[in-house]
Order: sequence, then C-alpha cells, then structure tokens
Amino acid sequence: MCHDSAGTSPGSATPSRRTLGRLLAAGTALAVLAAVAGCSPGSSPEPSSSTAVPTERSSAAVSASGSPTATTTSAGMATATTPPADAAPSASAPAASGPAASGPAASGPARKHSLTDPASPWVVVNKHRPLSPATFVPPDLVQPAVRLAVSGEAAQLNSTTAAAAERMFAAAAADGVILTLASGYRSYATQTATYNGYANARGRAEADTASARPGYSEHQTGWSFDIGDGGGACSFQPCFAEQPAAVWAKANAHRFGFVVRYPWMAHPVTGYFYEPWHLRYIGTEAAGDMHKRGVATLEEYFGLEAAPAYR
Ligand code: DAL
Ligand code: ZN
Repeated sequence: MCHDSAGTSPGSATPSRRTLGRLLAAGTALAVLAAVAGCSPGSSPEPSSSTAVPTERSSAAVSASGSPTATTTSAGMATATTPPADAAPSASAPAASGPAASGPAASGPARKHSLTDPASPWVVVNKHRPLSPATFVPPDLVQPAVRLAVSGEAAQLNSTTAAAAERMFAAAAADGVILTLASGYRSYATQTATYNGYANARGRAEADTASARPGYSEHQTGWSFDIGDGGGACSFQPCFAEQPAAVWAKANAHRFGFVVRYPWMAHPVTGYFYEPWHLRYIGTEAAGDMHKRGVATLEEYFGLEAAPAYR
C-alpha cells in the first residue's frame, strides 16, 4: 500500500514516477534512521524487544531488477476482483498472467489445507486476516542448519519450513550463492516491538507499509523468513533486490516450496511494498503452480480479497 505522505492511497493505481521518487526518499530516510539506531547491513536486523528498532524497511524504491514493466505497472491489480475472504478459488475468474495479474487464478488449487489455521502451510495472513489466535505460537519451532545472521527466536522456523530452508540454502550454495537467515520467527511480543519501532520513528501510516501490526505478521506463523546476502549487502533495503541472494531466490525459491510473498508493485493486494527478502513456505506443489501460472500473490492464487489496508 502507499501511505498518505507518498501521495497515493491503498488500492490506487500505480504510483507516478514523482510519487515513486518520494517513496524512495522515504525509504532512504527510514534506512538511515535505522542505521543510526545501530541496524546497519551486516548486523542483526532484528531488534530485541527492548530496542524496538525498525527491521524490515519500507521497500518502495525502484531497483534495477525490480523496475516496473508494462506488465507490472498495473499495480491496482486485485482491486477489480475481490471475492469474499475465504472464498473458494473461482473457476470462472480470469487466469493470472504475471505479477500484475488482476484476479484469482483461473482454476485455483484444490483446498488441501486451511487458509485460516496458522499451523497450515496455506494460511493467508494479511491486513484483513489476522492470526487466530492472535498470540499463536508454532508448536514445532526449530533452528534450521543454515547460515544465520540472527540468534534466538529469530533464528527459528517451524519444522517444515526449516527443513525446506535447509534444502534451499544448500542448493543456493551449490550454485555459488550464499543465503543467510536474517529474520525468522517472531513472537507476538517481538512483532509488537518491531511495529512500534517503525511507528515511533516514522508514524503509523508509513509503518503500515513495511511492518505488520502485532497479530498480523506471517513471521509469527513460522512459515516465513527473511533472507540476507552472504556479504550482508543491502539488508532490508530496496537494493537487496539486486543482490545475488535475492536474484537467486526469486528464480528458484518455488522449487523448494517458497514464494516471494510481497512482490514488486503488489502492494494494492498484499498491503506491503516489495520485500525481495521475505520468503513464505506454501509447499512445492503450490509454489511451483504459482510460478508456472505467473500468479504473484497468495491472495490472487487462493481467490481472496485484496488487503491493502486494515479495516
Ligand atoms: N514485513 C512484514 C510485512 C511483516 O512485518 O510481517
Ligand atoms: Zn519478513
């Protein structure tokens, strides 16, 4: 979503070039602010609950690899078709044809898993769909055997995601690309500190473009994590999209069951600017299917309404 200061509104059409420039400035300012607070690339991006430093920064800026194209600039993509929450995938809806696809997939997947249970690999958490219960804790948190850029709870994932992450990190390494686990599980309390850090620094409107409110973050499910680059370059910054880790993940994550959950220009659907570092496990079948069909978001894939803003 776009915030007021950026001159656009949730569900609006693609930001203009001028607006993108203003968003870039906002993102840069936030990055600088975070750096001043001691959250520099290469250091742990995860604040402790006491420091409340922003972690996942606004990624509104345009990067070379994430530049909008003729197909990705129709960012109002999911505003046209908004089936009710938890609606079954629509068989009559148009096929998604790319990141800017404007509706649910032509023939969505058979409903193999719950879209509401936070223990389900298909749970869809967004600004319209909080975790239930709000203080959910995955029962099977483990620390994956991967290169870690964080410690403690942030280095944990649910067991299924951890195993998939281990396979993916190993495959990337075999291709000469180093991935790091930069932020994994976050408890409700940690997400509260994270969000408040943003909100205190930049205000709630801007915080809402980059950080989920407590009870609304995928990180709390254990199905999501953020990656970093081996060199720590551009951590949680727009330029991360150009780093080998992000380029590799964008092209290969689906083979291991992951999707880039907040794609470029999908903010009218997801509610968040591009986060090339944020991966979400949904299983190899669904992730492969989304990749094959060119469906950009879980909302579109499962035929759910867009969630650009909190109700
Ligand atoms: N940055 C993502 C939206 C989160 O806070 O969960
Ligand atoms: Zn994330």
